[in-house]
Amino acid sequence: MTRIYVAVGSVMGTAKAVAKAVEAQLTKQGFDCVLPDQASVAEWQSQTFDGLLVITSTTGRGEIPNNLLPFYVELGDVMPLMPNVIAGVIALGDSSYDDTFCGAGALMEERLRELQAQLPVPRVTIDATETITPDADALYWLAEWQATLR
Ligand SMILES: Cc1cc2nc3c(=O)[nH]c(=O)nc-3n(C[C@H](O)[C@H](O)[C@H](O)COP(=O)(O)O)c2cc1C
Repeated sequence: MTRIYVAVGSVMGTAKAVAKAVEAQLTKQGFDCVLPDQASVAEWQSQTFDGLLVITSTTGRGEIPNNLLPFYVELGDVMPLMPNVIAGVIALGDSSYDDTFCGAGALMEERLRELQAQLPVPRVTIDATETITPDADALYWLAEWQATLR
């Protein structure tokens, strides 16, 4: 069974709700999903995963939420190369934060690229000023991403 690790960064719960919708959709399609409250490199390395999805909002001024930041930092410290992993990033933000719009998603995607993960579908940005259905927007992107895992 294709196994996917879902790492979430969320402050007020929107990205977490999106992650739950993504998990439900992937499970329905027969994927095996792991969605921890706080992602960790130890957990990531303790099992074999085919896919890594990062779903994160941006906080502060282009910063990664506190519940995802340790994973980002650990990935940089441990550098677990993942050339066989299909990765993807769903980035939530607000375009009124001009120059830091969806900055956390950009940082995470850059880190995944450094780790040689495959990124077959560029990250999607979901703008809180433009949509009131972030989960539906994420599922639209997910359909394209998950097709690359088969
Ligand atoms: C204090 C604060 C700072 C934020 N900073 C940014 C930012 O720098 N860039 C951005 O794109 N969005 C920013 N946002 C918008 C959030 O990323 C966006 O509302 C997101 O949907 C929140 O998701 P969450 O509930 O999962 O945290 C900020 C929101 C707050 C409350």
